[in-house]
Amino acid sequence: KKKLSRIDLQNMKDKGEKAVWMTAYDFTTAQLAEQAGMDMLLVGDSLGMVVYGYNGTVPVTMDQSIYHTEAVRRGAPNTFIIGDMPFGTYQAGWDDAVKNAVRFHKEAGVDCIKLEGGVRVADTIEAITDGGMLVMGHVGLTPQSTGALGGFKAQGRTADSAMAVIEDAMAVYEAGAFSLLVEAVPPEVTKIIADELPIPVYSIGAGVDCDGQVMIVSDILGVFQAFTPKFVKKYANLGAEMQKVFETYIKEVKAGEFPAAEHTYKMVQGEFEKLQK
Ligand code: KIV
Ligand code: NA
Repeated sequence: KKKLSRIDLQNMKDKGEKAVWMTAYDFTTAQLAEQAGMDMLLVGDSLGMVVYGYNGTVPVTMDQSIYHTEAVRRGAPNTFIIGDMPFGTYQAGWDDAVKNAVRFHKEAGVDCIKLEGGVRVADTIEAITDGGMLVMGHVGLTPQSTGALGGFKAQGRTADSAMAVIEDAMAVYEAGAFSLLVEAVPPEVTKIIADELPIPVYSIGAGVDCDGQVMIVSDILGVFQAFTPKFVKKYANLGAEMQKVFETYIKEVKAGEFPAAEHTYKMVQGEFEKLQK
């Protein structure tokens, strides 16, 4: 499998071919995703909720993101990997933002970084792009600012709000981003953005009329229990499967059924007799 480049992703948009991606936070999942033929992997700051159990993405640190991104890179050496800039790593100014984007590249080998916001982060996107790095924008519902948004709420449901999302998308494009993620907005609004912008526009909870989709891995597997957004499709109920495995394992060990003979090592012929002397 050959790793996709920004040119491949652009060609996919131009040909109307969907790009499919999901989040990953560990080596094993990344390896399985690459084998399955995933176009891209995002080491999302959803890490904080899925792996660390925070009730939002705000507490995630740069170091946590770097560790997990390194693991994902080792699992998926030939997949386009997106590093997700955690809250606080780009808000204080563009010099901070450039340094942290550089860390993602040098320490974790990402292919691009993603950061949240539109008009208000245009200068930051420009600075990182000027540093020779690829930036993916993220507009609509931006989980790092749920405080300001008043919660995990869909955006763009009124004309004014839709206009604000479209303006954010334009600002991201004009600042030099190579692609854009739109989260939790009505499909009509996403379609306007995807038709208007020459760069690839991807959706999470933003409809089918754009250049591809991303989902959070624990949502599509059905292992994340805290809540399920409206836009999630559970392709399996692995959470229930896992629970069954754990229960059966407990039961068998308690009953002395595990381990069985086939799970044990045999002593070399004649050695046990020597040991007994
Ligand atoms: O952190 C994350 O998982 C994201 C999703 C919205 C794709 O940014
Ligand atoms: Na994120």
